[in-house]
Amino acid sequence: EKGFDISVYNRPAYGEELVVSNFLKDNHALKNVSGFTDLPQFVASLATPRKILIMIKAGNAIDTVIDQLIPFLSKGDIIIDGGNSHYMDTAKRVDYLASKELHFVGCGISGGEEGARKGPSMMPGGSLESYQNIAPILETISAKDKTGKPCCTYIGPDGTGHFVKMVHNGMEYAEMQLLAEVYAIMKISMDNEKMAQILSDWKTTDLSSYLLEITIDILQKKEGNQYVLDTILDAAGNKGTGSWSSKAAFDLGSVNTMMSSAVFARYLSAFKEKRHSLSSRLKNVSEAIEGPDIKALESAYRFARIINHHQGFEPLRLASKEYHWELNLSEIARIWTNGCIIRSDFMEHSVAIFKKYEDYFEDDIIFKNLMSSESSIKDSISYSLKYRIPFDTFWAAYNYWISVTSENLSANLIQAQRDYFGAHTYQRKDDSTLSFYHTNWLEK
Ligand code: 6PG
Repeated sequence: EKGFDISVYNRPAYGEELVVSNFLKDNHALKNVSGFTDLPQFVASLATPRKILIMIKAGNAIDTVIDQLIPFLSKGDIIIDGGNSHYMDTAKRVDYLASKELHFVGCGISGGEEGARKGPSMMPGGSLESYQNIAPILETISAKDKTGKPCCTYIGPDGTGHFVKMVHNGMEYAEMQLLAEVYAIMKISMDNEKMAQILSDWKTTDLSSYLLEITIDILQKKEGNQYVLDTILDAAGNKGTGSWSSKAAFDLGSVNTMMSSAVFARYLSAFKEKRHSLSSRLKNVSEAIEGPDIKALESAYRFARIINHHQGFEPLRLASKEYHWELNLSEIARIWTNGCIIRSDFMEHSVAIFKKYEDYFEDDIIFKNLMSSESSIKDSISYSLKYRIPFDTFWAAYNYWISVTSENLSANLIQAQRDYFGAHTYQRKDDSTLSFYHTNWLEK
């Protein structure tokens, strides 16, 4: 559609024999597409340096395809992995292909099915040389930001493209869970139309986002007289990127309580049978339900989204320092302003914030905004307690905010306990050299 000559290939495995011919039939209007089910012929049809984008399930299949391709490639050819591969696997593949004088680009692609086809946000990582070779194509097919610039930029070396995409997904998990918790709060006293109305009002404010937009559509979608949402089993799936980003945050010492809460909320939802049996043992108290304070909920949602963005960009900042990746957070925010799942008004705003500051809290307006929303988030949390509604991700946001703005935490007791049972030593407030001390705690 963008005028590039392309060749497409799919293996002629059992059940997949017609994938290529069906694709050609469906896209017969495109005269610049050639289809292949023979790998050597497919590779031979490409101009050098060859640029091969593989879109298959992450994992061993990627290595298998790489090994099938290598014998037919020549020096300088580029393989691009557009799936959700783990960034450490990608880094290994970059090295492996480099040892064969080939390039490997791990390219995070966000936008779901529609976006991937019609203009996604693209996060390519690998050698700069390989990026320069593929940039004209990627930048043409990617989504465009408000100013018309491509939502695609060179992220950095090794597995950085997939690292950034993984963190995008961690933020996506928390953004989705926040909306699910807002839905849970409203659902006990409102019908779908009313909820959709409230969220539509929010959409006209700085809270506007793609995920909010699709949630409004989802709330209203009917099959006959029934809302589709009401027919969906409340057991959430996942393909692993949320837990990968939480694990990466643990490894980096980054505090990502919101994305991990969102991952755990999905896991817990999947224990449907257990929940069913335990809930049947609770006494059913029917009480009159008072609706939530919508203004407070709106402001709590704004608060929690800011914390989610703050927490989400932290592993990027920390990994960039730790691994010398030189990630440009403002550019990352910019390529996330369109095409991707977490695109939003606030992401637009974030581009300028990261041009000026290292993190959101350095921005006085954001900080004051968070301070002034405290009473609202407290109000929404008490509402969730009153009616026994799980509200994990909002809690995670608020607890994080309290801790991160506290001069004194109870970690002195943790240090004392560590020293007591394991002689792990501690530092003292009254010693500015921060030397390490040990106390014999049993000595009388
Ligand atoms: C995107 C999405 C996409 C996909 C993920 C999440 O940015 O386009 O994040 O990559 O939806 O696979 O999947 P799970 O929710 O199944 O983990």
